[in-house]
Amino acid sequence: MSTLITGIAELTTNTGDGPLRDAAVVLDDARFAWIGPAGAAPAADEQIDLDGRAALPGWVDSHTHLVFAGDRTAEFEARMAGRPYRAGGIATTVAATRAATDDELSVNLARHIAEARRQGTTCLETKTGYGLSVADELRSARLAAAAADEVTFLGAHLVPPGANADEYVDLVCGDMLDAVAPHVRWADVFCETGAFDRDQSERVLRAARERGLGLRVHGNQLGEGPGVELAVRHGAASVDHCTYLTDADIEALAASDTVATVLPACDLSTRQSLAPARALLDAGATVALATNANPGSSYTTSMAFCVATAVLQMGLSVAEAVYAATAGGARALRRDDVGVVRVGARADLQVLDAPSVTHLAYRPGVPLTYAVWRLGRPVVV
Ligand code: NIG
Repeated sequence: MSTLITGIAELTTNTGDGPLRDAAVVLDDARFAWIGPAGAAPAADEQIDLDGRAALPGWVDSHTHLVFAGDRTAEFEARMAGRPYRAGGIATTVAATRAATDDELSVNLARHIAEARRQGTTCLETKTGYGLSVADELRSARLAAAAADEVTFLGAHLVPPGANADEYVDLVCGDMLDAVAPHVRWADVFCETGAFDRDQSERVLRAARERGLGLRVHGNQLGEGPGVELAVRHGAASVDHCTYLTDADIEALAASDTVATVLPACDLSTRQSLAPARALLDAGATVALATNANPGSSYTTSMAFCVATAVLQMGLSVAEAVYAATAGGARALRRDDVGVVRVGARADLQVLDAPSVTHLAYRPGVPLTYAVWRLGRPVVV
């Protein structure tokens, strides 16, 4: 089944050229089959006219924590009243997640992924990390693998209450990794004061690498620290948060293949300063924008909100923010088949009810999603 989409006033492709004007695309099953000027478009089984709207790759949300149960509204309210975020609330979600049935977790996960897709997210990574026992992490990994595009093992999210830190790291690096490795592509560690220190984080990264997993690091979220340096030295695909960076961190990222993933919704929701995405781009680093959707520090699935914030408050141009939220996320996941409109790439396309992507920042907070195709199939039309 092929679909010809015409009437695209502005088509962002992320292929190196600027946007195409008065463009058309053909989706053939799950791939883009043709891209070019509307006047030269071939015939297809069906045709849809967008009547002068903007189209762009679906969002690639490369950082979420959506295998969870429970609610942390009270913690959010306390934070808005002045209590600082210290990540201790993770334990609240761990207790609720362990108490939930498989069905409850799957339904909650599917509900949030559907919510993201309706807003234009067509490729989504999610993590374990609210189980923190072999059985609960394995369950989270299995459920995530059945629902998300990419899955990351985050057994090293927090030392569970009552556990000894070094014994817990032994467990993560041994039985837990053995159990989850067949179900995940990535492993991550929360390298931060109060979570895992440099040595413990390094042990987790080494053990994950030995199982053949790709690496990611949660780093520099609540203060300066070794996260970026560790991520770069171990060749991690991304280091996520990057809220507190030294000049040396920025230089190291710029000289590496490690993507700096910034999470502005989390910075705002935890009342931190915003990550220095402008300085990262100016230095030559690759930046990804993601939601960090989770019930504690960033309860949103809206990539459009992240893009608008990146433009209005972090000094990115609209083109830079859109790139970071599409091709940047793809780079953070080491994928070249998403985040791009190119013949042969995955037919993931979103359409705005606006003539240009500029409206994402010009009209912040307005639900501009008009249509979404994922793998060539309509999610919203
Ligand atoms: O990315 N940094 C650690 N993990 C999550 C927080 C999750 C939570 O508070 O539940 C984050 O912000």
